[in-house]
Amino acid sequence: MKILLAGGAGYIGSHTAVALLKAGYQVVVLDNFDNSSPEAVRRVEELTHKPVVLYEADAADKAAVLNIMKQEQPDCVIHFAGLKAVGESVKQPLRYYRNNIDTTLTLLECMELTGCRKIVFSSSATVYGEENPAPCNEEMPKGSCTNPYGWTKSMMEQILQDAAVADKNLGVVLLRYFNPIGAHESGRIGENPRGIPNNLMPYVTQVAVGKRERLTVFGGDYDTPDGTCLRDYIHVMDLAEGHVAAVEYGAGHNGVEIFNLGTGQPYSVLDIVNTFQQVNNISVAYEIGPRRAGDLPVVYADATKAKTVLGWQAKRSLADMCRDSWNWQKNNPEGY
Ligand code: NAD
Ligand code: WQD
Repeated sequence: MKILLAGGAGYIGSHTAVALLKAGYQVVVLDNFDNSSPEAVRRVEELTHKPVVLYEADAADKAAVLNIMKQEQPDCVIHFAGLKAVGESVKQPLRYYRNNIDTTLTLLECMELTGCRKIVFSSSATVYGEENPAPCNEEMPKGSCTNPYGWTKSMMEQILQDAAVADKNLGVVLLRYFNPIGAHESGRIGENPRGIPNNLMPYVTQVAVGKRERLTVFGGDYDTPDGTCLRDYIHVMDLAEGHVAAVEYGAGHNGVEIFNLGTGQPYSVLDIVNTFQQVNNISVAYEIGPRRAGDLPVVYADATKAKTVLGWQAKRSLADMCRDSWNWQKNNPEGY
């Protein structure tokens, strides 16, 4: 089976490419390298000793996507292509809506035109919004997002659901990721943020490697055991393997199915910092600062459905996540 990874040169896409190739799938990557590098795909080939067909293209460019899909005839599309920086989305909402929604519409239109009827979509726990108390399960109604990025995910889920109502042959798997961190255990591929990291783990690793002075912990006065926010951190290779399970499930099902991809185990910001320091025997300077606007105190998954229906569950520990994040950062201090 051949899988087209739109946005497949990025952090989650490149790790998923490794997992798919290992499971025997053929992989085609389409990326405009807005937030990634072709080097990631080269390293995927190096790690797996398998070829990846790579196209530099914008997933919102209908003529380009149609050509690629006619040429490659993929059995399934995984749609990773999107802008994902929460703060940037508040400042540039139109760019976020344009890119994220156009890519989704274009991919769906080109799938229809070429007879590809399976799509797996990178959604986010952010669609649960503020209303749903943790642990979030897939039966809960979506909530109010706190930023335009989150709304693009919520809207794209709706678009995909409407498309599946209209076309009974369409199979849609919506994967709601919690907080992916870590890297492939080889240290050859990993997360490569441009500029100042928005997310916790890349900030921690950049402090450890000496690129940033200290981490600011956003808020120490939440109603949680140590006063810092709780999140469901998941190793990116577990997440990648969740995509393989989703592709396999999708091959045999039409309609829409939603799965949380998380561990179900919440950890605090200070758990991350402390575990990172212990496992890697390196210190990370930090200070407790003010809360960050829009942060919810506690977010974690009910991970039961993916286990029951997909037969997938996360296997790697927080220590594995911290070790592999550092292994990637220390071996690639400047990224790719
Ligand atoms: P990433 O930025 O590393 O990967 C996204 C990829 O899409 C990049 O390679 C980028 O160049 C590409 N891209 C963006 N717009 C494109 C376009 N118009 N045409 C072609 N390529 C385009 O991000 P990631 O962390 O790998 O995230 C992958 C997906 O998962 C995104 O949709 C993101 O919103 C979603 N997601 C990520 C997280 C997370 O914490 N990393 C959590 C939940 C959901
Ligand atoms: C984690 C925790 C911060 C940075 C975001 C998106 C979500 C999804 C995953 C895409 C929080 C704290 C962080 C720092 C800190 N992305 N933190 N100092 O906010 O849970 O989720 O990424 O879909 O939609 O919102 O992840 O890594 O930014 O933060 O104290 O410098 O670390 O307050 O508690 P978040 P994060």
